Parts: sequence; structure tokens; C-alpha cells
Amino acid sequence: MCGIIGYTGVQAAVPVILQGLERLEYRGYDSAGMGIFENGEIAMYKTMGSPSNLKEKAPQGSAAKVGIGHTRWATHGAPDEKNAHPHMSADGKFAVVHNGIIENYVELKRELTEKGYIFRSETDTEVVAFLLEEAYKGDVKSALSEIMPKLNGSYALGILCSDYPDTIFCAKKSSPLFVGIDADGGYLASDVAAFYKNSGKIYKLGDNEIGIIKKDGLKVFDIDGCRIRKTEVKIREAQRYEGKGKYEHFMLKEIYEQPTAFSATLENILVDGKIKLGCLKMNREKIKHLNHIEFIACGSAYHAGVVGAYAAQKLLNIPAFSFIASEYINRSSSADENTLVVIISQSGETADTLAAMREAKKRNAKIVSIVNNELSTIAQESDCVILTKAGREVAVATTKAFSAQLAVIYALCIRLSYSAGKIDREKYKNYCTELSKISEKIGEFLKENSYAKSIAEILKDTDYCSFIGRGFDYCTAMEGALKLKEISYAHCEAYAAGELKHGTISLIENGTPVVAVVCDSSVATKTLGNIKECKARGAKIICITNDENYKGDADDVIVYVPKTEDIFSVSLSVLPLQLIAYYTAKLKGCSIDKPKNLAKSVTVE
Ligand code: G6P
Repeated sequence: MCGIIGYTGVQAAVPVILQGLERLEYRGYDSAGMGIFENGEIAMYKTMGSPSNLKEKAPQGSAAKVGIGHTRWATHGAPDEKNAHPHMSADGKFAVVHNGIIENYVELKRELTEKGYIFRSETDTEVVAFLLEEAYKGDVKSALSEIMPKLNGSYALGILCSDYPDTIFCAKKSSPLFVGIDADGGYLASDVAAFYKNSGKIYKLGDNEIGIIKKDGLKVFDIDGCRIRKTEVKIREAQRYEGKGKYEHFMLKEIYEQPTAFSATLENILVDGKIKLGCLKMNREKIKHLNHIEFIACGSAYHAGVVGAYAAQKLLNIPAFSFIASEYINRSSSADENTLVVIISQSGETADTLAAMREAKKRNAKIVSIVNNELSTIAQESDCVILTKAGREVAVATTKAFSAQLAVIYALCIRLSYSAGKIDREKYKNYCTELSKISEKIGEFLKENSYAKSIAEILKDTDYCSFIGRGFDYCTAMEGALKLKEISYAHCEAYAAGELKHGTISLIENGTPVVAVVCDSSVATKTLGNIKECKARGAKIICITNDENYKGDADDVIVYVPKTEDIFSVSLSVLPLQLIAYYTAKLKGCSIDKPKNLAKSVTVE
């Protein structure tokens, strides 16, 4: 989604804002803009496309010490300059950058139009600038207090007012916003990664709070204007900004960080051969009385949830379901106080996931969240938070956070199963031992990647490709197909191998690539039968397997991954598919870290 940055201090503001925008680029890159104080007036610079284009337009040598910037992921209106933020009030007094959606903007726009305001953009944000102008009587805080109750939906706002050329005003509801203060000034950002330096104090603004940032500090008020004392938040080093290092793309770097992401996540969970999940606070009786488990998430995190549902059902022998978060409310789940709901989200800010979580909370379910950001809204609203320690993930297409989510899911399912008496001590110990080896196996497998480059040569020119698998392999197929679609724009789809003959086998022609995953030993023979059905119709088989006995046919491409317990197999079988997607996208010249139309953190429903 969109990203916000602001700075007021002793340094030149333009380079600080440009660098912040570059760090926020993964959140949105349809267009970008900044507003700075030049000679007491607000000057605006906007561009289409990535924030790096703004470098050419922004006055690099400007002496301005105060400004705000924005990188946009279009929701209301095309990604062009007129819709790029900041948006100005009609009198030129206010410049506003905004993340989120003002859901009642049509109504507000109509009222403002009737009062004579002329809108210059198609955005929902412009109403905020005009409402501020209308409410302003010399005090921005009071104006914000007056307009905030009128705004439905979500917003993180960064505001300049020409009467206060040393100040940035901010306010938020349901969209994250952080303030950093160090010796050089005050910073505003929708994500701590944007802060210019990895030092200083960081504060998180709460819903319906108003912040006034000056170079020497921050003052925060509630909507009634009463002062609130904020406490500093501690950001794990791992969540701060890091560059690409020796890698050409963040995605490749993050693929290779998976062994560490996996092991760091388990560091305090798998201790001395035992799984410790203290925050669960569920005794044996409570676990035994669980009526079912729900895994809720979006995108790749949803695929981790599918793995969770398969693993939970297998290990606990109770119903377990995976839900796409945006469909959760529509499916009227039967969650109640005896249901465990597992919320999975890298960012911890995904609006669809948050909405589903709040719905599950209403039903009194026990909420466990698996997030990569302990300061996120999902973390803050959960009964129990289990952190993934993947570190900051920058590439839009997730890899290491997905791996880290799987680590937690395995640990959770094994622990619950053992506590409920569904597996005995020996089985429990065996699972724990094998789980402790996965990170090493991931590292071992990643050492060689030439196969991925050759397979990319096959996939780069195909119009259609199918990913198939059964059981846990179906989960891998879904994630592998998503990776390829996200970053290489290849048209492909994942199908349950057994279902293929009921539908899309009709698309298989001579030479159609079929990526078949055969690692879940409980269903492997059946998948092999489905591979034969594809071959009989001319498919080119790319087989990902952990069975050395699988030799395939002479024209098959076979990639062997390390063997493990079936329930952990996705952690290994997904690796070649990530790399294949990466090299296919590279051959096609795609924007790998920032695929078109996608955003990393989707904070609108
Ligand atoms: C977006 C991203 C996906 C991600 C999904 C869920 O759609 O493009 O890569 O999997 O959001 O994000 P979350 O932060 O909740 O894991």
C-alpha cells in the first residue's frame, strides 16, 4: 500500500525524504510525491512511477528542512501526477499525505463541492485537505479533532500547514504510523524501515491520536485535545532497514536467508528438544475440548494456513480449516470459545486479515497470531502472539517470512497434538528432532541452483503452466504457482493433482509444462498416476520430489529435494519453486522486487 515519510530537523529535508521513500517503495510505486517548505510556502513535486523518478524532479539542493513525502498504491483514481500525494487545500495552506481509505469520501466530496470546493484529483484524500481548510481557525490540532470523527474508514495522515513551517502534524486510525526523534530532528513514517537513521527513539501513534512533530520532540494528544504521554517502542534490530548486500534483488537475498529465518524463529520455541509456546496458555483439558481450528490469512500466508490445516487435522485428528481472510465473514464460520483461530500475517497489518480476526474475536474464539512484526495491529489485538523472526522482508513476493510461518505452524500443531495426547512421547521427540534439522536441510539444498535457471528457460516462453500435487504437495503447488504469477506474470495455476482430470487437463497440450510436486509420501503413488495422465497428453513434466527412486521418463526434468517428515515437506519442496519463479522473472526482465500492481502490505479491505 502507500507509504508516508516526513522530516523536520536540522538537515536538508529533500534527501531524507527521498531516501525514506526509496525504503518505502515496496509498499507502493504507482506514483510518488513530496511537499516541502520553501520560503515559507509549501512547494510540491510529484511523479508517476517509482519514487526514484522523484529524484529528477525534487530540488536536490534545496535548503528546506521540513517536508512530507508519499509513495502511492492507487485505490481511488489512476496512478498519475494529479492523484499523487500530497494533496493541497484550496487556499494552499495545507498539504496532506494519506494511507488508507476514507470510506465516506463520496458523501464528504458532495458536501464540499456544494460549498464551492473544486476537486483536482479523483482521490479520497483531497477531502481531508479541504475539511482541514474549512475547520481551521489557527490551531491545526483543533481542526484535526473536529474533522477526524467525520472520516469513516482508515487513515494515517501526514500534514504540513504553512502557518507552522517547522512542524509536521499527524493523525491516525487503523493504519500504522510511527514517529522517530533523534539529535537531527523528528521523523514521521508509516513503517520504521523508512527512518533515515537506525538510531533515536521511536513512538507508535495510537488510533484517534494527533501528533505534533518538531525538530526537538513529539507531542501527542487524544481527539479531545488532552495530552498523552507516549512510551518509546523497541524495534528489533532485525526489523530495521538493511540493503541488498551482494544480491541483485531483495527476493534472492531473502530466499537465501531462509535457513536463518527458520532457525531464528524456532530459537525460543524449540528448546532442548521440546516445544515451548508459553503464550498459548491452554491446558490439556482446554486443548482436548477444542472443537476445531481455523487458519486465516491472505496470499502466501494463506498457503501457510493451508499447510496448518492439513497438519492440524493430521496431528490432532479434529477438523481444521483454512480461510482466505477476505472470505471469512462471508462463510459464517462456527467459531466459538472452544475454537482456536490462528491468524497468519507477515506484516501484521493486512486489513482483510485484521477484519477476519476481529470477527473471530467477536465469536469468542481464542486468537493466536503468527506475525513478523510485534508492533503490528494484529499482534496487539491477539490473545497470543508467536513471532516469526524472519527479519525485515522487502521483496513484495514473500519467501523467508513464509518459511518462518511454517516453522511456527509445525511447532504449534506438534505441541497441541502432544498436549492433547494424540501423539506419544516418542513420536513427539521424533518430530522435534526432525524439525530442528529443517533449517540445515534448507541451507544445504540452496547451495545449488543451476536447475532453476534451466527450468526458467523452459517456462519463460510458455503461455500456460500447471502446478499439481496432493496433500502437502498441493500446498506447495499453490505457493509455487503464486510465486511464478506474482513476479513473472506467467499464466499458471495450481490444481490438486487428483482434480486435474475433472477440469484443466483440457488445457494440456504437447509441450505444456506441468510442475508436479511429489514429496508427501502418503499420496505420492497417486500423484505419479496423475503425472502419467498429463504425460499421455503431451505434457512436459518438471518434477519436484524427495524420492530418489523416482526416475521419471527420459524427457522429464527432475529436481530432488531433501527428505523429511511429510508434514514438514513444504519447507523444502517450495524452495526450488521460489528459485524457478525468480529466474523465470529475471529472464523475462520483470521487476522482481516490485511486481506490477502488487503491494507488500495491503492495508485496505
Ligand atoms: C499481499 C502481498 C502478499 C502477501 C499478502 C499477505 O497481497 O503481496 O505477498 O502474502 O499480502 O500479507 P501479510 O503481511 O498479511 O502476510
